Amino acid sequence: MMLLQLLKNLCAFALTAGDVVAEDMPELSDGDEDDEDDVDKEQWMEEESQPVSCLFCDKVLGSVPAILQHCTSDHEVSLVSIIRKHDLDDYGYIKMINFIRSTKCSPSCLMGLPDGPLPWESEDFLRPALQDDPLLQADPEELCGSEEPGSSGGSSSRTHDALLRRTQAAEEGLARSLEDVHKLKLLVQGLFLDAETSKSGELGAVAKLREDEDEAYFSSYGHYSIHEEMLKDKVRTESYRDFMYRNAEVFRDKVVLDVGCGTGILSMFAARSGAKKVIAVDQSEIIYQAMDIVRSNNLEDKITLIKGRIEDIKLPVEKVDIIISEWMGYFLLYESMLDSVLYARDLYLADGGSVYPDLCNISLVAVGDIQKHQDRIAFWDDVYGFNMACMKKAVVHDAVAEVVNADTLISEPTVIQTIDCNTVCLSELEFTTDFCLKILNTADCTAIVGYFDIFFDKGCSNKVMFSTGPQATKTHWRQTVFLLEKPLFVQAGDGLGGQFVYKTWDNCDSTSQLNSFGCFLGNTEGKQTISHH
Ligand SMILES: C[S@@+](CC[C@H](N)C(=O)[O-])C[C@H]1O[C@@H](n2cnc3c(N)ncnc32)[C@H](O)[C@@H]1O
Ligand SMILES: *[C@@H]1O[C@H](CO)[C@@H](O)[C@H](O)[C@H]1NC(C)=O
Repeated sequence: MMLLQLLKNLCAFALTAGDVVAEDMPELSDGDEDDEDDVDKEQWMEEESQPVSCLFCDKVLGSVPAILQHCTSDHEVSLVSIIRKHDLDDYGYIKMINFIRSTKCSPSCLMGLPDGPLPWESEDFLRPALQDDPLLQADPEELCGSEEPGSSGGSSSRTHDALLRRTQAAEEGLARSLEDVHKLKLLVQGLFLDAETSKSGELGAVAKLREDEDEAYFSSYGHYSIHEEMLKDKVRTESYRDFMYRNAEVFRDKVVLDVGCGTGILSMFAARSGAKKVIAVDQSEIIYQAMDIVRSNNLEDKITLIKGRIEDIKLPVEKVDIIISEWMGYFLLYESMLDSVLYARDLYLADGGSVYPDLCNISLVAVGDIQKHQDRIAFWDDVYGFNMACMKKAVVHDAVAEVVNADTLISEPTVIQTIDCNTVCLSELEFTTDFCLKILNTADCTAIVGYFDIFFDKGCSNKVMFSTGPQATKTHWRQTVFLLEKPLFVQAGDGLGGQFVYKTWDNCDSTSQLNSFGCFLGNTEGKQTISHH
């Protein structure tokens, strides 16, 4: 039933790289060599005592070598000979492991691979298919070495070299993926995860984002271009501005907290609206620019800037009257930092205080756009005379952020959830809603589109709202499109019903979440399940 799953990891590529760096690279101390070697051994021993899941069956064994042995004896696959045959470097090895796990390819297809391009060439396979996979932490060279008769399994200097190389590879990867924030964002969108690769229901396996993964996230916000994009999104920025300037009475003499201040724009709006004091917090490097910006605008007496994660720092005041933040992600909660805002609310908001924006509606609407559907789906039936129909599945499983032409809407929109930021708690961000879309135009329904609306409402004499829907001026959030595999004929007056599963996991850690969506649609005569199982 589950259709699509969205992984909230910000950049899987950076994640992978981060894993390697953090797990395998003990900080190189200035101390003597022996100390370093000890650290090394400890690291390796720790790794070896981690349980390892087999690549081909459900078996779990106590160490990487034990699993390799098991693969050789029970599945007749020698990973070592594959590494040797294809001369895999650390990158290639990691991609191979993730490829095997995510595609569940059979031992025989693996052993029979020709010398040509490998099926795991894509950088997508740098994303760990299994969280905390000890196989990803193993060193291919070391694996090969340890199977060689008479080899001791690698001296520690070799180990160091290998670690160093892998760290460099990881850093290169990191640098590459961060070099253009746009690309990073596209990658993030590309992460809408195939439901097949992670079985629905088995979402407990979502691991915590670690510090270094956070770093990738925050360094993306350190780059100016992402802020340029946000500031130039007039719908977004002017809504915040209008809300504050037109409701100055709400801000007069108040203490305001800006969670994730970026360039400080919202803090400056608040200061200009009469706030007594504004505390602006951001973890990313952009805060240094914000410090300059605030000074250039002579607001340094009003605005106090603090660098750090809101969860880690201590505010100079006990309570604040107002919290402002622009925390919204794609389809509202994907890649969102609402969790950080709720954390700040629960800790710092004074009784009677407010969070703005306060209300958010999440909506769906049906689309009939055969042209687009053909472009994306039927296209694969005949590509320069070749049948690539197997690609359709992957395409359908992706939820895509794109601008939907309002002329292609065929139903009324329907609100599937309203979130009140002053009262919502994290667990309520998981929900399942039955919906019914009232069809307005007889057509083939080709997609369901999701979007959100944002309201500055509580206590405002001049309420302000903006929509990220297809009928409104486009924003950098665009809309979120869930393509149907097969168009569904619907007639004006029909109700197009379905269920939407929207989940946000939070493993106590404020930045670890997994969102997943599923929907199936049914009309009255017999339910047609628009899912891929
Ligand atoms: C979407 S941007 C908004 C920036 C700015 N408020 C604006 O409207 O232009 C979100 C900012 O929040 C910061 N951020 C996200 N999570 C944070 C956290 N837990 N603690 C501090 N800053 C955070 C990011 O570094 C980023 O600069
Ligand atoms: C937002 O959702 C609520 C129902 O939850 C509804 O009453 C309200 O009209 C919606 N606002 C818009 C603009 O869709």
